[in-house]
Amino acid sequence: MRRLDPTGIARVLAADAVDVVREHPGPIEVLYLDADGDAARGKGIYLDILQTAWDKMPAGSIVLAHNSVNCAERLQHYLAWVRNPANCRASVNVIIDGEGLEVSAK
Ligand SMILES: C[S@@+](CC[C@H](N)C(=O)[O-])C[C@H]1O[C@@H](n2cnc3c(N)ncnc32)[C@H](O)[C@@H]1O
Repeated sequence: MRRLDPTGIARVLAADAVDVVREHPGPIEVLYLDADGDAARGKGIYLDILQTAWDKMPAGSIVLAHNSVNCAERLQHYLAWVRNPANCRASVNVIIDGEGLEVSAK
């Protein structure tokens, strides 16, 4: 934790992730996506969170997105976006738990 934040303090926020990243002053160097979203968007919320955070993420930042395998259909637009070299320099699907983790580098 201290390597990410010299204060060594982790905060748990009970709030909408899109609002949290919008209000975060940045920089955001690591973004872990696992929010279920609401009934309408489901895991489709990942792209909303990422695009809201994007301008606060320096080059080389890492995005980890869980459920890249078992929710691949719902995440189609997200996976297409991070796998587009115009957006991310690299993006790979890692099968670590059967549900999948898309690891992307800005
Ligand atoms: C699969 S669980 C996350 C599990 C967590 N990564 C862990 O290892 O304990 C999905 C969570 O997303 C939360 N969630 C749903 N919509 C959200 C949103 N818009 N913003 C933030 N969290 C959200 C739910 O409350 C639920 O706790």
